Amino acid sequence: MVVHGPDPHFPEDEAALGQRHALPGSCGVDREDAQPAPFRKDRGGDPGSLYFPIVPTNKIAVLTGGGDCPGLNAVIRAIVRRSQNYGIEVLGIRNGWQGLIEADVEPLTAFSVSGILPKGGTILGTSRVNPLRNTEDQQRLFSNMKRFGIDAVIAVGGDGTLSAARELHLLGLPVVGVPKTIDNDLRGTDYTFGFDTAVNIVREAIDRLHTTAESHHRVMVLEVMGRRVGWIATFGGMAGGADLILIPEKPYHIDDMCRVIESRRRRGRPFSIVVVAEGAAPAGDPPPDHVGGGASSGVGFSVAAQIEKRMGVETRVTVLGHIQRGGSPTAFDRILATRLGIRAVDLVRDEQFGRMVGLHGTRIGSVTLEEATAGLKAMDLEQFAEAEVFFG
Ligand code: F6P
Repeated sequence: MVVHGPDPHFPEDEAALGQRHALPGSCGVDREDAQPAPFRKDRGGDPGSLYFPIVPTNKIAVLTGGGDCPGLNAVIRAIVRRSQNYGIEVLGIRNGWQGLIEADVEPLTAFSVSGILPKGGTILGTSRVNPLRNTEDQQRLFSNMKRFGIDAVIAVGGDGTLSAARELHLLGLPVVGVPKTIDNDLRGTDYTFGFDTAVNIVREAIDRLHTTAESHHRVMVLEVMGRRVGWIATFGGMAGGADLILIPEKPYHIDDMCRVIESRRRRGRPFSIVVVAEGAAPAGDPPPDHVGGGASSGVGFSVAAQIEKRMGVETRVTVLGHIQRGGSPTAFDRILATRLGIRAVDLVRDEQFGRMVGLHGTRIGSVTLEEATAGLKAMDLEQFAEAEVFFG
């Protein structure tokens, strides 16, 4: 079938596209100023005609930014499927904000998201590119919004991606945020998807370390992710029955650590499992430097060396690293991501821009992007005290 006129996904005729207009209130276009688009391809109506005089095009673009995490594909799928309910088209932006700056987009359909629910990573790719780094990039981003007829963006990301979304919203971008990070350090949501999967990976690693630790009467130090917060270390450690957990929120004392290991030895348990968040630091020291990301901070090795030196007990180190971010999401993360994706589309439909969806108790609610990005959500020390009951 020959389709006449510009393809709104990959426009060749910029002049024709210039006649199209964003949804009222979006892309910095005031409701009053917005004009209805003259033409659009329609899905129904008179079968003899390809184009109809009409209503504004409804098109959402979705991007995934920052470090990947299990559940991103579940959220993309939910956004596409919910949008379908409303007759809204969806464009995927590749590699986070970078794709919107570089016009790197692809149409997403129910067919293209079929089968991705259990897959880790993100079919859209990701990057940590900051769209606010210069005005030229910002201009390209806004002009690509117009070029592709995008009415609103759903940005799925952590603190960095959503802080950029907050700033772009102030500049006129109609955007809704979806929280994601294995670190669970975003405000405005009780949990982020990806966290539960990471915790289960830590739990399994501890289960495996336990048997070998016990056989060899060793101390096993497990370094886990969490540059600035200890959610993964605390939950993973609790689930695996760790004998000691070190987190960034609570600087550690080597004497206390040795006391715990010694008291276990005296009880006839000459092995111990010590879980260390990569951002943990001894009292009086600054937190480890994580500028490069990725590589171990080395804190696990430093803790192990101190235990071995002070106590003369054989100690081994495991750094879990990116294994915590890979693979298939747990059922909890799939469901959470799906519910957040559905709600994000509902917010766009209701023109509730500048907000982030989140899990509040058992319900999916939303907060402003300002609230969500006003500092990190540190580990609750009252909750950490529950893990401390099992130290030693
Ligand atoms: O923020 C998520 C996270 O996985 C952190 O826990 C970790 O410190 C960091 O990303 C690793 O970053 P990268 O993937 O860039 O090495």
